[in-house]
Amino acid sequence: MNHIYPIFDKMLSRHDKEQLLGQRGLMIWFTGLSGSGKSTVAIALERELHKRGLLCRILDGDNIRCGINNNLGFSPADRVENIRRIAEVGKLFVDTGIITIAAFISPNNELRKMAAGIIGKDDFVEVYVDTPIEVCEQRDVKGLYAKARRGEIKDFTGVSAPFEAPENPDIKIDTSSAPLDVSVGAVLDYILPKIEVTK
Ligand code: ADX
Repeated sequence: MNHIYPIFDKMLSRHDKEQLLGQRGLMIWFTGLSGSGKSTVAIALERELHKRGLLCRILDGDNIRCGINNNLGFSPADRVENIRRIAEVGKLFVDTGIITIAAFISPNNELRKMAAGIIGKDDFVEVYVDTPIEVCEQRDVKGLYAKARRGEIKDFTGVSAPFEAPENPDIKIDTSSAPLDVSVGAVLDYILPKIEVTK
């Protein structure tokens, strides 16, 4: 890049921020179908962490697509750009020592690998919300599966666009077979040791 002079070396470091907050920054990346329960688990997880005095930020598909990504649709190229921007924004939060919780379909391994690469593998925890599509479709909280089946939404994940299951998720949950507190507990058990700071 020409005529760009980053000032990273003059700014306070991530370590300074983590010492201030008394926590380590981490990205908790939820992936799964629409209606699988990503946002529900993310919101409950944030409340549990907040209660423990830990600072979090949720990044969620429907919110982000109303703002920074409101010019993107659901073509393969737009989904790449969606996840790329989210990962870059997420990295800023993680570098500020914040526990960042992302809830995006992120429907294939390449997208999730790109996100992990931008954020850094050591700071990236992948949570697969493996709720069966029949359950997601039955819930149809937003009525989108019905619209997709009627052909009113094209490229709808799980109906007319693919969802590729993660190969090696750190955690797998199914919100149709476990109550919310059990799903949240599984994530908490895994991440709490990772966000402890060493003085
Ligand atoms: S992603 O595939 O690019 O990661 P993202 O999580 O940002 O998707 O957005 C998914 C949300 O957008 C869904 O929960 C749903 O509410 C809405 N949506 C609208 N159109 C589609 C579509 N064609 N495929 C999937 N989700 C869609």
